[in-house]
Amino acid sequence: MIYSLLIITFLTALGFSIYFYERVQTINQEMDGVYSPEAILPKYHFVLIVEEIEHEYWQLIGEGAKHAGQKYGVYVEYIGPERSNTEEQLKLFDKAIKSKVDGIIVQGLNENFTDMINQAERQGIPVVTIDTDSPESMRHAYIGSDNYMAGQLAGKALVEDTNGVATVGIITGSLDNPHHLERLKGFKDVVEQVEDIEIVAVEESKITRVDVEEKAYNILTEHENITAFFGTSSYNGIGIVSAANSLQKENDMYVITFDTIDENMELLKNGDIEAIVEQHPFEMGYLSVVRMVDIMNGKQIKEITHTNSSIIRKTSLDIEETMVVPNDKN
Ligand code: BGC
Repeated sequence: MIYSLLIITFLTALGFSIYFYERVQTINQEMDGVYSPEAILPKYHFVLIVEEIEHEYWQLIGEGAKHAGQKYGVYVEYIGPERSNTEEQLKLFDKAIKSKVDGIIVQGLNENFTDMINQAERQGIPVVTIDTDSPESMRHAYIGSDNYMAGQLAGKALVEDTNGVATVGIITGSLDNPHHLERLKGFKDVVEQVEDIEIVAVEESKITRVDVEEKAYNILTEHENITAFFGTSSYNGIGIVSAANSLQKENDMYVITFDTIDENMELLKNGDIEAIVEQHPFEMGYLSVVRMVDIMNGKQIKEITHTNSSIIRKTSLDIEETMVVPNDKN
């Protein structure tokens, strides 16, 4: 009897020990990476200052940057104004320099950005420009589209799709920012070679939806013979289509714009937008962090990395995944 009781007690104790041992193993596995010292204490703190914090394009850049941040043990702080506002961006830039972060990823939108980039670099904080370069500044590297080439692509698409006959209105995000100017120049350099294509108006939207619609509306009323529009930034196509719709002109209008954001893709599917210049924001964000980590590690880096741009039409809607993690060696 006593032996049986001892055996039962022994087996029960053994059973509990095995059970708890396995539980601890499982919990350890679940916690692996979450509470590891590297995960608690990232090696670096980078700040990514974007043009519009809630804009789909910038959010994809943020996701790409954070993805690389997780991989390389970097805390990526994603900040920026609610609506495009260079003054606010510069204030955030100044604050990041003063808080002595390890690296800053930002656009090079104008001379004030160039000065701020140089200030950061002089204080030993490396800067990687993203989306818009500032080649004359002291920045370490640029990651983003070749904006001149992207503008040329838009021009070629328009020539092809209109059989070289069009009266064109252009809405550009800004007449001051280098990337919009490069896109505009690339576009003009192509279409101006074609005899029956004429550009009759160029207006700027200042990256707001309201301004695009108003500007497109004005262009359409002043130039009734317009048959095509080119928009150099994400929201331009949407505003152009609204203005054309309100004047019942959309059916005959050819529209080409930038960026495969959801609203543009919807308009492409229903035929209101004919073509889109696709950029790769996730990849830009990802590679900007990879580049900055290389700078931290004193590696030799590639100064300029152009992410791909291409033309998407309704006929090519089997669009590739935009969140593909790029090869870190890019
Ligand atoms: C540009 C960005 C801009 C965004 C929103 C993109 O095409 O590359 O610089 O912030 O459009 O307008």
